[in-house]
Amino acid sequence: MSSFEISGPKKLEGEIEVKGAKNMALKAIAASILSDEPMIISNIPRIEDVNRLIEIIEDLGAVATWETDSRLKIESQGISKPKLNEKLVPTLRSSIVLIGPLLARFNEVSLPHPGGCSIGKRPIDVFIDGLTSLGVKYYCKNDSYFFKKPGRLEGNRFRFPKPSVTGTETMMMAAVLAEGATALINCACEPEIPALAEYLNSQGAKIKGAGTHTITIEGVESISAGECKIIPDRIETGSFAIMGVATNSRIGITNCNPLQCELPLTMLKDMGADISWGKDWIEIRPVKKKLHAINISTKEYPGFPTDLQAPMTVLLSQAEGNSSVFETIFEDRFMYIDSIKKMGADITMENPQKITIKGAHELHGKEVESPDLRAGIAMVIAGLIAQGETRIGNIYQIDRGYENLQARLNQLNADIDRHE
Ligand code: EPU
Repeated sequence: MSSFEISGPKKLEGEIEVKGAKNMALKAIAASILSDEPMIISNIPRIEDVNRLIEIIEDLGAVATWETDSRLKIESQGISKPKLNEKLVPTLRSSIVLIGPLLARFNEVSLPHPGGCSIGKRPIDVFIDGLTSLGVKYYCKNDSYFFKKPGRLEGNRFRFPKPSVTGTETMMMAAVLAEGATALINCACEPEIPALAEYLNSQGAKIKGAGTHTITIEGVESISAGECKIIPDRIETGSFAIMGVATNSRIGITNCNPLQCELPLTMLKDMGADISWGKDWIEIRPVKKKLHAINISTKEYPGFPTDLQAPMTVLLSQAEGNSSVFETIFEDRFMYIDSIKKMGADITMENPQKITIKGAHELHGKEVESPDLRAGIAMVIAGLIAQGETRIGNIYQIDRGYENLQARLNQLNADIDRHE
């Protein structure tokens, strides 16, 4: 198992460029199935989740070629069997998003339960209800799901019981090629959704309202492919900003869209961080005073993202006073707390969804594990501020979502060794 060894504490300096958004890249790969023309995805991050999804579509018969480091060509005309691989799908929760485009193009798909995720139960009821509302018949046998609709899917009205990001994207892609109009109500509004819709519309889809809670789609018979440019990763952006503040560093973050993480950035300011931003950059400067405690509650976009909850908790362990963190999206997203406590943080689990943090306490390097990818970067931040050596195991979790993190942070003066 690979690990990082981090020598701390370290102040960072220099500039770091944000890569393309993981959570748009995965949906863009899925969108390549909607057309049988070749599709180019640019600004795509070189991360393990992208590699896993490529393996899954190649197993279906697609051909993926890296034209450059961040430009991927996908040819999906060779797909003949809409049956998702039983060994690969359980390694990647987001492979579920493939079922929308596969149903739209082939009218059938089967898959095992998508797994690979440690942050909660992650049911797929929303996908089943949404797709059956488009006329798809479904049954489940031996832990596998089978979806089928003779002929094109039929546009309909579907209300999400609660906003789901991948659910919204799956339904949007399924409805693009459906017969008639579809109205999706109570949709998620995360920025990756309008970005995907913009690409699909540029290829002939008729989607309106993406980025709001109501999306309407006028079905078309076919769409073309062309180039899809991935937007900057707002979670990587926010993680680097939190890292800069936690290490009391002077760093610049470039190639980002600060408005897409305006709330976390504003909260950092409220805590006393010296931070400013423009259209596509963020600057963080060191401060002399201690940061102060705040309370956060995770929420759907534009609220505080659950994907920044763990990095923020590490930062709050360094703020003066009592902070609370309330996780409202996923039920198992505090699994990293014991590791941060082992390093010296004073954190109390009030209930499975809420913690309180008493700060500030010095952290000390320890041997820890990375239970999921966002907890992984939180551990890296902890390692950068801790006294001594921190060894983080299971860094596959970090590689899932952050491209070449060790080399990029070492260019900012971090001292991180990677052991394979
Ligand atoms: N949910 C259901 N039933 C469903 C689907 C979802 O109950 O059929 C629940 C989930 O269990 C959760 C809530 O709905 O409690 C919201 O989950 P959502 O479906 O929005 O999450 P997701 O689409 O699976 C995406 C990101 C996550 C991010 C969440 C929330 C991708 C590939 N994943 O997940 O990203 O945390 O939205 O913003 O887009 C990550 O990048 O580390 C990550 C976990």
